[in-house]
Amino acid sequence: MKYGEFSDDGREFLIHNVATPTPWINYLYNGRYFSTISNNSGGISYFGNPLHGRVTRYRINDVPPDRPGKYVYVRDRDSGEYWSLSWQPVGRDRPRYKVAHGFGYTRIETNVSRIVSKMTCLVPLDDDRELWDVMLTNQSDRPRRLSLTGYVEFCLGHAHVDLINQCDDQHFNRVHFEEDLNTLFATKTYWVTRHSGTQQQENQAWNQWAYFTASEPVVRYDTMRERFIGPYRNENNPIAVEMGEMASRGTDYGNVVGALQLELDLKPGESRRVIFSLGVIAKRSFDKDKAATLAKYRNGKAVDDALAAVRKHWDEYFNHMRVNTPEDHLNVFINYWIPYQARVAFDVGRVASFYYWGISRGFGFRDTAQDTIAITQSDPERARRRIHLLARQMFRDGRVFHHFTSDGQGETTRHCDDPFWLILAVTDYIKETGDTGILEKQEPFLDDNTATMLEHLLAILKRAGAENLGKHGLPIFGRGDWNDTLDYIGGADGGESVWGGMFFVAMMNQFIELLEFLGRNDLITQVKAVRDPLVNHLNTHCWDGEWFIRAFGAKDRKIGSKESDAGRIFLNAQSWAVLANLAGRARLTQCMDSVRKHLDSDVGPKICAPAYRKIDPEIGLITRCVGGKKENGAVFCHPVTWCIMAECLLGRGDEAYRYFTKTLPDRIDSDTFMAEPYVYSQYITSDEHDEPGRASHSWQTGTAAWMKKVVIDYLLGVRAMYEGLKIDPAIPSHWKTYTVERVYRGVRYVIEVHNPAGVQNGVKKVDVEGKTIEGNVVPIQPGPVCHVAVEMG
Ligand code: GLC
Repeated sequence: MKYGEFSDDGREFLIHNVATPTPWINYLYNGRYFSTISNNSGGISYFGNPLHGRVTRYRINDVPPDRPGKYVYVRDRDSGEYWSLSWQPVGRDRPRYKVAHGFGYTRIETNVSRIVSKMTCLVPLDDDRELWDVMLTNQSDRPRRLSLTGYVEFCLGHAHVDLINQCDDQHFNRVHFEEDLNTLFATKTYWVTRHSGTQQQENQAWNQWAYFTASEPVVRYDTMRERFIGPYRNENNPIAVEMGEMASRGTDYGNVVGALQLELDLKPGESRRVIFSLGVIAKRSFDKDKAATLAKYRNGKAVDDALAAVRKHWDEYFNHMRVNTPEDHLNVFINYWIPYQARVAFDVGRVASFYYWGISRGFGFRDTAQDTIAITQSDPERARRRIHLLARQMFRDGRVFHHFTSDGQGETTRHCDDPFWLILAVTDYIKETGDTGILEKQEPFLDDNTATMLEHLLAILKRAGAENLGKHGLPIFGRGDWNDTLDYIGGADGGESVWGGMFFVAMMNQFIELLEFLGRNDLITQVKAVRDPLVNHLNTHCWDGEWFIRAFGAKDRKIGSKESDAGRIFLNAQSWAVLANLAGRARLTQCMDSVRKHLDSDVGPKICAPAYRKIDPEIGLITRCVGGKKENGAVFCHPVTWCIMAECLLGRGDEAYRYFTKTLPDRIDSDTFMAEPYVYSQYITSDEHDEPGRASHSWQTGTAAWMKKVVIDYLLGVRAMYEGLKIDPAIPSHWKTYTVERVYRGVRYVIEVHNPAGVQNGVKKVDVEGKTIEGNVVPIQPGPVCHVAVEMG
């Protein structure tokens, strides 16, 4: 490939041409301290969350993009020539740079002026800092007198205030260098933790000291951007680097930076390792902790250990699931990069990427609930904590905060779908863990006393009660459903969400399945009383002949119907008809056939088609968006996962496989696709636009969490149920055999599937430890390992 490819073992993405069409980034973090890093070392660092705890700046939508970052400049003190350890910012000798993004680390290598360098960046698991581990080797035949300058631009606290109120905000910055600790410290004496727009000034300082230090003595330093960069220059050619001089002065006020200059004299052939460390120390324990904190990572061994721990952490995560399909390329995605992205999206909470700057919104309720399904298997304890956090963002009447910046601080909107996603997270968690005890755990409502988790789930049903249904008996649309851009359906009169109805049904089916397992017949009757009429209304009012419509607008207007000029058919209203098991097979098959006929394209199935070309205030934002992008007719990758799942549920493995392989992130050439080829983007521009194939909003999408689930549970067909592991593959008919190894309730299941007859679906025989069982649900085994042989047919 033109810019890069996976390493042979699939565990790194290797970039050999660093002039990628967009920054191709990676995430280094430990759950508290986060650092994003691109192939050119651009990125942000934050502690806690990117809105309130921003350590470094990143200039939004800048030209050139992706600045600033984690930069190290090298200068030859004799000749005056200089470059950076990453290609940018200096921009010299591009072909000499190589980058490897691995799980939790990034390595950037180059050889400029016969100085070979390798910089590995990582965040230790147990320490709130990032390390830039630099190895330099003098490959020339003469002694070299070099200087090395580590550089960051600080933000210090609230990133949005920093952006919109710089002129005032910079009066609170403090920065100084402490000689005895060889460390630069920076903080802010004012800190906003509430709304950035408010006029009520908070009476507090940022609760952290940021620090920047190096393992070798700092010879010179600087703290002020204007002084370091110089007038009418930029990070390409900072005057301090060019001249080899620095003020070595602290500065309270202004655009504060950390620039640490070291001197390294290298004999021919000599190598030296230098470690830069950028992190935070809580003010509350600063005096007590700082000496010990700064004494760490002064030698290579400590960094090697930290990197080994990061690798082990990710290995353990991946080790919960391992597949071997006939296609190595798919294995790389399924075993590593899809679960990696899913985990990152969960941990980052979708708020920080090259596209999301972490300044506008917090955790989305529905997004968080969906991201949770990615980790219930590998890290049930964290999934459980997230479920509790979500339950606390709920009101007694079943409404929830649509998004929240911190626990109990959020915004309510009138999206009809939000609360129901909690049912998904809870049922998924219990199926995986068997921990029905969670239902008895207590959490307060935002406006009421504590109640059990089961009561929280029951409260959600109120959102499907009569007062929240429209005249067709379907959910009142409000300001949107899963699709945020269907936000004015029906205008002032309000409309109804057909997809919302299907989604409620699907979630209630999940709930009923749980209640059946618990033997709670009393409650089953209660849930069915809400669900059954919905099923009936959907089938009676919403079938359009060949597919389901998407919504009702004012005056019975159908949205997503044969009668519509644009947005005639929507993907979600077909796939979720299947996911909700809404009708008989014939109708559901017809839905998915219509998807293929009307929505599929060279780059995948579109979210809806044809795209809207005229603004329609009674539909909403979708119609204001250019055609072929985002929700207006792009290949929106998140719902593609449901399309694949629907095909699997219909047993059409060939179709499921076709959609899966067609939308893999590396299928389209990178000059067209532009985003990272190793992770999913939110959407791929469709043929409704004149730039089809271009992707955007990579990394922070629900796609990976769902794709992980859909591929393992439905395509490869190994899914956790309350009473065992269900084996129900829907694979391409040309696959003859594959294996899935998966940890379930503490036991490692090694499942070998054979497909001698070349079918797409159907299980003839399941042998557990050599004994054939009835049906296709493998009962919970004693372990530690359980071998399962499956014959399809
Ligand atoms: C974005 C939002 C998500 C929403 C989707 C469709 O991905 O984060 O919550 O469901 O767009 O509008």
